[in-house]
Amino acid sequence: MSKGKLIVFEGLDGSGKGTQIRLLAEYIRAQGGQLYETAEPTQSSTGGIVRDALGGLMPRTACELSAMFLADRIFHNVNKQNGIRRYLDEGIDVICDRYYYSSFAYQGIDADLEWVMHMNLDCEEIAKPDLCIFLDVGTEQCNERIESGRLSREIYENLDAQERIRRRFFEVFDKLGDKENIRVVDASRTVEEISADIIKIYNELGEK
Ligand code: TYD
Repeated sequence: MSKGKLIVFEGLDGSGKGTQIRLLAEYIRAQGGQLYETAEPTQSSTGGIVRDALGGLMPRTACELSAMFLADRIFHNVNKQNGIRRYLDEGIDVICDRYYYSSFAYQGIDADLEWVMHMNLDCEEIAKPDLCIFLDVGTEQCNERIESGRLSREIYENLDAQERIRRRFFEVFDKLGDKENIRVVDASRTVEEISADIIKIYNELGEK
């Protein structure tokens, strides 16, 4: 049996990941494919600690946050009940809303980027994605979506931080080069146009 594929969606807050994940998942299921949808931070107790920090309830340093996201990600991979690795081993595809690229871009604006990258990329318990889809939208457009959809803001949800995070994402993609399969999708277009591109990219993955 062939292993399932790990597909990660990344993008700034308000880049439309939720909608595009739903559309790709619908497509895969309509084709008869089996799929497990998941997200980071997870619903585990570590994920809860991370969320408290992101909401500003319990302030943490960038290094603390990096380590907490790492612990949450390891649990997300290896836990026997609904860990990513279990599904991949069973031949089931996994779609994950955010993964280590978010740690590089978000924690990497304050903590040492090389350190954050190493501890994730060199951790044998963290699966390497088969595909990362980066939904690329300008920060102004993301900000409008955040404003219309939410009442409270998380620590990174301000225009200045989002600009720095966006630049970091591209720096990281350059650094990773062809070591990872990263596809940048112009997400400033209509939902249908973006979705059509993503489905095409997904189908190319199956041909590999
Ligand atoms: P959340 O509101 O749960 O989801 P989203 O914005 O993706 O709809 O927020 C997750 C936040 O966590 C988001 O601001 C990015 C941040 N984050 C990191 O800073 N580092 C990480 O490693 C991950 C996975 C997320």
